[in-house]
Amino acid sequence: MNMVEISKKRYTTKHYDKSKKIPAEQIEALCTILQNSPSSVNSQPWHFVVVGTDEGRAKILPAIMDFNFPRVEDSSHTVIMCVRDDLDEAYLKHLVDQEDKDGRFRTAEDKKGQSDALHYFVSVKSPTPKDQFEWKCRQVYIALGNLLFAAAGMGIDSTAIEGFDNQKMDEILGLKGYKSVLVATLGYRAENDSNAKRPKSRLPQEEIITHL
Ligand SMILES: Cc1cc2nc3c(=O)[nH]c(=O)nc-3n(C[C@H](O)[C@H](O)[C@H](O)COP(=O)(O)O)c2cc1C
Repeated sequence: MNMVEISKKRYTTKHYDKSKKIPAEQIEALCTILQNSPSSVNSQPWHFVVVGTDEGRAKILPAIMDFNFPRVEDSSHTVIMCVRDDLDEAYLKHLVDQEDKDGRFRTAEDKKGQSDALHYFVSVKSPTPKDQFEWKCRQVYIALGNLLFAAAGMGIDSTAIEGFDNQKMDEILGLKGYKSVLVATLGYRAENDSNAKRPKSRLPQEEIITHL
């Protein structure tokens, strides 16, 4: 399927077929897609919790708003997308060291250049803790976009979910150093998923895109 077709066919699944499970190798592929998601200055301020068992689903359900219950209960997997609390010195060093290990720098100056850029951007984007939090959240939303699009390309249905109680989710998962910002469910549509048959609705391109 070409990219445009995928964008037309992907839709928000409201009801899943509980009997259908995503094969492990496709979950692994989607994890790689999350890992490879781009982020500003490669800051990767995220963590993803992948829930693929009935016990896991039952555990997180109290944090899900009730209208979203069927997406979590009947889908194959639920991903809780979390944002990192601290971008402290140790973490920034960890990021640059990983880039070094991955062979991204030819010289020590290259490494210092990336470290400087990282520190500069983090400080520019962090006039207040709230500003920094929102900047980090934006990176997580990019990962969401990648996940939904890639899943559709692989024939996997999905639902992005903001309808959950973030604080409750953090407590349930016992998150330390991270906060949940998004949930995404993945699986296969139920035969009676009415949303599958509804036409897609978007504002016209003339209204949302300017070509110069
Ligand atoms: C960030 C985000 C949060 C969303 N939260 C929910 C949600 O909690 N429950 C739900 O059923 N759909 C949710 N949606 C789905 C949107 O309503 C849907 O993407 C939009 O209506 C466009 O429809 P489409 O995805 O079928 O093209 C969310 C979508 C996004 C991108």
